[in-house]
Amino acid sequence: MNAVLKNTTSTQWEPAADQVIVRAENIAKYFDVSPPWLNRVLERQKRAILHAVDGVSFEIKRGETLSLVGESGCGKSTVARLLVGLYTPTLGRVNFFGRDLREMNSQRGRSLRQKLQMIFQDPYASLNPRWRVADIIAEPLKAHGLMKDKAQIIARVDELLQQVRLAPADKLKFPHQFSGGQRQRLSIARALATKPEFLVCDEPTSALDVSVQAQVLNLMKELQREMGLTYLFISHNLAVVHHISDRVGVMYLGKIVELASRTTLFKTPRHPYTCMLLDAIPDLEMSGRARTPVGGEVPNPLNPPAGCTFHPRCPHANARCRVEVPLLKLYRHPGGETQAACHGVEENRI
Ligand SMILES: Nc1ncnc2c1ncn2[C@@H]1O[C@H](COP(=O)(O)OP(=O)(O)OP(=O)(O)O)[C@@H](O)[C@H]1O
Ligand code: SF4
Ligand SMILES: [Mg+2]
Repeated sequence: MNAVLKNTTSTQWEPAADQVIVRAENIAKYFDVSPPWLNRVLERQKRAILHAVDGVSFEIKRGETLSLVGESGCGKSTVARLLVGLYTPTLGRVNFFGRDLREMNSQRGRSLRQKLQMIFQDPYASLNPRWRVADIIAEPLKAHGLMKDKAQIIARVDELLQQVRLAPADKLKFPHQFSGGQRQRLSIARALATKPEFLVCDEPTSALDVSVQAQVLNLMKELQREMGLTYLFISHNLAVVHHISDRVGVMYLGKIVELASRTTLFKTPRHPYTCMLLDAIPDLEMSGRARTPVGGEVPNPLNPPAGCTFHPRCPHANARCRVEVPLLKLYRHPGGETQAACHGVEENRI
């Protein structure tokens, strides 16, 4: 533990091999979306509990990027919010530098909390339009009580603007005077103000044009190398995920159904849902894999199918799939190592 913190204070990042920064242990988040009590009584409606995230486990090592990908509503943003402590898990726990994230709200957890920041999809919504850039970027420094001296704060704002390839003079402008890509750079500068170790990035480039997306992704990769940052990256776009990730987790209805290194996942996907997602994009790894598009809609999360929740859309579903929930298990194969939750993979028929 001390060794971990020693790294955070040194100016030169020294990677410690296999150091786990964050660990999600079987986390779940349930939302009570029941109608009001009176409606329930009069209309004889039941309580409705939505399992947005339902038993998700993973760990992320220092300097690594783990991406979570999946269709809208599969629980990506809920995992992101659990990871930065914006939500408390209904079950399970999030471990950050070996400490339960719940401790972060205590006095003792304060110094660790500044090591963890989040970047959101819409840079305009997350930047106060009435504040000048200097105040926006300096806000976390003041909130965490890291700097009080005015000249010191201005110097730090200038440094942060340069780190995200903007000019110190930009600190006098307002957010509306920037392009979308530049505004996302401002969000990144603000997130970096407290010298975080771990950044949760929820669709940070989805609102940007494709050409600008690549610039922001490249900047994020450069900053990761320079500062030894660790990322949890959320996206529904597999091309973006391919560009930025070391490992990829595929989510379906609140669960991770496949988790593997980027190369293994893109070259030799095992879970039928991953194959379906890959069928929708160009063959990024040029694997030459046969493609069989699968259609269908994501089921209602309030009334998910029994057994494997993907079974109504899966061309490989059998009787077992319709009743038994598949568990995430590790498989070693010629393409590498894959964790997959699929009876077909276990039965060696996929
Ligand atoms: N605060 C909340 N109250 C009730 N239900 C919620 C809440 N937040 C999320 N949900 C539900 O939980 C599920 C997962 O939502 P989440 O926002 O995590 O999905 P997502 O994968 O980020 O989707 P998208 O790609 O559209 O951003 C959805 O069914 C959503 O409607
Ligand atoms: S468990 Fe069955 S239904 Fe689910 S993905 Fe695997 S083969 Fe398809
Ligand atoms: Mg989301």
